Amino acid sequence: MTAKETLSESPVGAGLLAKASSQSTSSLNEIPHSRAGRIVAPSLPQGLGPTLDFAEVSLTLGRTTILDQVTFQVQPGSVHALVGPNGGGKSSLIKTLLGQMPHQGRLSLQWPGTPGTIGYVPQALEFDRGLPMTVDDFMAAMCQRRPAFLGLSKHYAAAIGEALERVGMQDKRKRRMGALSGGERQRVLLAQGLIPAPQLLVLDEPMSALDEAGIQVFERLLGDWRRSGITVLWIEHDLEAVGRLADRVTGLNRRVLFDAAPKQALTPERLLTLFSTHPRSPA
Ligand SMILES: Nc1ncnc2c1ncn2[C@@H]1O[C@H](COP(=O)(O)OP(=O)(O)OP(=O)(O)O)[C@@H](O)[C@H]1O
Ligand SMILES: [Mg+2]
Repeated sequence: MTAKETLSESPVGAGLLAKASSQSTSSLNEIPHSRAGRIVAPSLPQGLGPTLDFAEVSLTLGRTTILDQVTFQVQPGSVHALVGPNGGGKSSLIKTLLGQMPHQGRLSLQWPGTPGTIGYVPQALEFDRGLPMTVDDFMAAMCQRRPAFLGLSKHYAAAIGEALERVGMQDKRKRRMGALSGGERQRVLLAQGLIPAPQLLVLDEPMSALDEAGIQVFERLLGDWRRSGITVLWIEHDLEAVGRLADRVTGLNRRVLFDAAPKQALTPERLLTLFSTHPRSPA
């Protein structure tokens, strides 16, 4: 990949495993990431996430227009929130970014140097609650290439332990995933997004199932990411949190209705327009 990567033809990854290789700087990621079968040279400084450019991105599924000429930019090292009503196309937009959905228009990532790692925390994790899979098994499956039944490699055990500690799940590593509460599962989803340390983090409603303590953990992580210069694209329904924590907010309901700093974006009039426009109504 080149420093400026156009994604309309070469999506960066697929789903939960959407991680472009890179180096990292936190102690979590002193371990080279080998998912792509490569040892990753530690060449980038910490953070310094990419710029993200959505230019007239459209998505039509069947005869339904899901995204209509979506254009906005995410600045490097910023926390950029994406807000809008249910069904407004937020998750679909990031799935186009991750190469899981076809699209028209242009999507590009401009890295400050060597292309870095992309972490993705999906909106929900669908899996059989009866599955005999522990938190460690899940993290192993997400973060290392060898089969999960072989257990955690020494390589990743420390990084996984540290990521679980950052989200307050260190003491639940041997629990079955199916036995976790929704909030605990959400914390594990967050933890897998930290390995290897990403330079771009894409979060799809990371706070939705979290309790008060979980929200504090998340806000602390957001502060860490901001300090280390990671670019964060963050889908969120909690507008109070967005107003407090985001650098910029894009309102999306099939099309972009506003794109501004939270103070200018989150006005009653703008929110009324955003949440009262039916995305499926004819333009
Ligand atoms: N694979 C698919 N096939 C057909 N329609 C889809 C598909 N995925 C999403 N949609 C539709 O696209 C629209 C946008 O969905 P999307 O999940 O992107 O919305 P969202 O803004 O993330 O909503 P929410 O806030 O509820 O998560 C919805 O009407 C949804 O039904
Ligand atoms: Mg969604």
